[in-house]
Amino acid sequence: MLSASTFIVFIVINLRLCWIRPVYTCVCGPSYSAYKEELFQNVLTQVAEQFSRAFKINELKTEVTNRLAMLEKRVELEGMKVVEIEKCRNDIKNLREEMASRNNSNFLEDNKKLTPRRDVPSYPKYMLSAQTVDALKKPAFDVWLWEANEMLSCLEHMYHDLGLVKDFNINPITLKRWLLCIHDNYKNNPFHNFRHCFCVTQMMYSMICLCSLQEKFTQVDILILMTAAVCHDLDHPGFNNTYQINARTELAVRYNDISPLENHHCAVAFQIFSQPDCNIFSNFDPEAFKQIRQGTITLILATDMARHGEILDSFKQKVDNFDYTDEEHVTCLKMVLIKCCDISNEVRPMEVAEPWVDCLLEEYFMQSDREKAEGLPVAPFMDREKVTKPTAQIGFIKFVLIPMFETVMKLFPQIEEAMVQPLRESRDRYEELKQIDDAMNEVQKKKSENLTMGGKKK
Ligand SMILES: *[C@@H]1O[C@H](CO)[C@@H](O)[C@H](O)[C@H]1NC(C)=O
Ligand SMILES: *[C@@H]1O[C@H](CO)[C@@H](O)[C@H](O)[C@H]1NC(C)=O
Ligand SMILES: *[C@@H]1O[C@H](CO)[C@@H](O)[C@H](O)[C@H]1NC(C)=O
Ligand SMILES: [Zn+2]
Repeated sequence: MLSASTFIVFIVINLRLCWIRPVYTCVCGPSYSAYKEELFQNVLTQVAEQFSRAFKINELKTEVTNRLAMLEKRVELEGMKVVEIEKCRNDIKNLREEMASRNNSNFLEDNKKLTPRRDVPSYPKYMLSAQTVDALKKPAFDVWLWEANEMLSCLEHMYHDLGLVKDFNINPITLKRWLLCIHDNYKNNPFHNFRHCFCVTQMMYSMICLCSLQEKFTQVDILILMTAAVCHDLDHPGFNNTYQINARTELAVRYNDISPLENHHCAVAFQIFSQPDCNIFSNFDPEAFKQIRQGTITLILATDMARHGEILDSFKQKVDNFDYTDEEHVTCLKMVLIKCCDISNEVRPMEVAEPWVDCLLEEYFMQSDREKAEGLPVAPFMDREKVTKPTAQIGFIKFVLIPMFETVMKLFPQIEEAMVQPLRESRDRYEELKQIDDAMNEVQKKKSENLTMGGKKK
C-alpha cells in the first residue's frame, strides 16, 4: 500500500500539474480521500506558498521530473497490488507525455502568469527622488541603475505625470497590479526582457516630453503610445519571426506566419486586460475601449521590422505636408514613434547603449545555435563565428536608425541634439572600432602567411 509520504508526494505532483493546467483532474484513488485532512491542508498551504514564489517553469519541470522519478521508484519498492501499480504506471506515463508534449511550448506559463493577483500588489513603493523624476524625461537616462521594483515605480510615475490616471479615471491600485502583471509576463531573455520594455517606454515618455506631443496629440493618443510601448514585446520567446516560421512553431502556425511574435505580444496584452483586476481601462465606455484597443494593436503590430520599409515610406510621403487633423497621418506618426523607441538604444549615451549590443548578440547566438542544431538557415549577422559588435551596429545605425530619426526630425527639429547627434557619434565610434578590428585582422593574416611561407621554405 502507499505510504503516507508517497501519498503526499503524489498529491503535490497532481496539485502542481493542476496548477499548470487547471483542467487536469487529480487521479488519487478514493480510498485515500479521507486521509488526514489536516495534513492535507498543511500541504496545500505550503504548496500554494511555493507556487506564488515559483517563477521559472524550468525549475518546476525539473522538480516535477525528479518527483516523478522518486514516485516511480517507490511504486516498485512498496510492492503494491498489480492493479494499483498498473494504474499508477498509467498515470505516470500520462504525466510524462503531458510534459513531453509541452516541452517546446511557449505557452506553458500562460495559465500561471495570466492569473490575476487578488492581493494589492506589494512592490515596495520606491520614492523617486526629484533628480530621478527629472532624469526620467530624457533619452540620456541610465536604464541600468534600477531593479524591477524601481522600474515599475518609474512606469507608474509616467502614467500619473502625463495626467493619464486623472484624465481617464484609472484606478491607481489597478495600475500597480497591471504593471506587475506586465512585468511577470516578460521572459528573462538576454535582450527581449522587462528592462527592454522599460527602455522603450521611457524613450516614448522622453519623446512625448521633448517634442511636446501633448500639445499635438489627444490624451487618448498619448495613452495608446505609452500602453503600446509597455506591452509591445510581452512574452517574447527570444527567437525571432523568421525562426518561428522556419521552425514551424506553435506561434507561426497560430498566426499563419504573419507577424507571429507581434500578434502574440498583442494577444497577451489583451488577455491581461481581460482580467478585471488588471484592466486599467475598466472605467472606459465600450467605444473608448474599442478605440484604445485598435490603436494599441496597430502600434504593436507596427514593431515588426519586416514592415520597416513600408511604414517609413508611408511616413515620408506625409511628413512634408503633415496634418495633425488627418487621422491617417497621426496613426502613421504614432507607428513611426513606437518604431523609433523600440530600436532607440543607440540614441542613449555610449555607456548605456553598448551593453545592449552584447545582450542582443547573446540572444542572436542562442537563436543561431538552435538553428544550426535544427538544420535551419542561419543569418551571418547572428552567427557567433562571423559577427562582431562594430559590424553588427554600423549598418543598422547608418541605414536604419539615422534615416528614420532624420525623417522624424523634419517634424520635430528638437530631437537633433538629443537623439540624432548621439546616433552620429555612435556610428563614428563603431566605424573607428571596425578599422582597429580590420587592422588587427590584417596583421594576424600576415603573421599566419609568414608562418606558412616559413614552413614551405624549410
Ligand atoms: C525537453 O527539453 C529539455 C531542455 O530544454 C531537454 O533536455 C529534454 O530532453 C526535452 N525532453 C523531451 C521529451 O523532448
Ligand atoms: C531573424 O532571424 C533570421 C535568421 O533565422 C534572419 O535572417 C533575420 O534577418 C532575422 N530578423 C530580424 C528582424 O532580425
Ligand atoms: C613577415 O616576415 C617578414 C620577413 O620575413 C618580416 O619583415 C615581417 O615583419 C613579417 N610580418 C609579420 C606580420 O610578422
Ligand atoms: Zn522591442
